[in-house]
Amino acid sequence: MTVFSPTRNRPIALVTGASAGLGAQFARALARRGHDLILVARRRERLEALAAELATDGAAAEVLPADLTNDADLLRVEERIRRCENLAMLVNNAGFGLDVLFHESDLAGQSAMARLHVLAPTHLTHAALPGMVRRGRGAVINVSSVAAWLQGASGVMYCATKAFLNSFTLSLAVELAGTGVRVQALCPGFTYTEFHDVLGMDRDLVPKFWWLRADYVVEQSLRGLRRGKVVCIPSLRYKLLAAVFRAMPQWLMSHIGQKRYKALQARREKAK
Ligand SMILES: NC(=O)c1ccc[n+]([C@@H]2O[C@H](COP(=O)([O-])OP(=O)(O)OC[C@H]3O[C@@H](n4cnc5c(N)ncnc54)[C@H](OP(=O)(O)O)[C@@H]3O)[C@@H](O)[C@H]2O)c1
Repeated sequence: MTVFSPTRNRPIALVTGASAGLGAQFARALARRGHDLILVARRRERLEALAAELATDGAAAEVLPADLTNDADLLRVEERIRRCENLAMLVNNAGFGLDVLFHESDLAGQSAMARLHVLAPTHLTHAALPGMVRRGRGAVINVSSVAAWLQGASGVMYCATKAFLNSFTLSLAVELAGTGVRVQALCPGFTYTEFHDVLGMDRDLVPKFWWLRADYVVEQSLRGLRRGKVVCIPSLRYKLLAAVFRAMPQWLMSHIGQKRYKALQARREKAK
């Protein structure tokens, strides 16, 4: 395990879900920008491999394996944040999707999603902010999704938790105005990561046009943060799509959601 040398005085960024996808890209991008890292996720060996890679960019990285749906693990990460005197950035990124109807699903999975997408960012942000406000600088990025503006069967908890993250971030931005601490809700669309492997979704179902690269999403987020963007939607096509979602009357959004639900049922019947 790589640990910080006390003589180093670099800003520290803590990234959750750093063992894959967007989280690993955030860690790489922040290391290149002069940060040391605290890497959080469940898979220790992945985090250790990333820490070794980051060392080649001159960044020290501490590996902090944790299941953020577990109370004791979450508390350990909160305590680590409170002890971190030069925490410059917190990236609440860990997340997953579920492709099951809420009313037919195992509650444990839905509950784990609520814990990971809502409770963990709440606790970690609450641990990070007092120090950041005291120092008059720092940033929190909450990785949300364009799904925050959607309603859909089989994405009930996902859409709800991402909508929470947007609302949470927007209100925090108001509360933190003038403190020097910035917050951002990052709302990507379909992005090439391991997310869809975990979900069990065939990527070919979505036209290539809609797919983004993880490094692009992260660069857009960090650029947006510099410019004070509280809600960051990478790429023009998703900015337009989100504007359409926001302007859409409720009945039309529900109609589209129901159409998608029927298509899903048809797919399930065919697979039987
Ligand atoms: N990819 C997309 O199309 C897309 C679009 C919009 C938003 N997002 C959001 O982007 C974020 C990152 O997802 P990704 O696309 O990078 O997916 P990914 O490649 O599957 O990465 C997910 C990360 O979350 C971690 N994680 C999952 N459950 C965890 C738990 N219980 N405790 C701690 N860490 C956990 C995973 O690590 P371990 O398995 O090692 O714990 C992994 O590092 C998520 O919040 C997702 O909702 C993704």
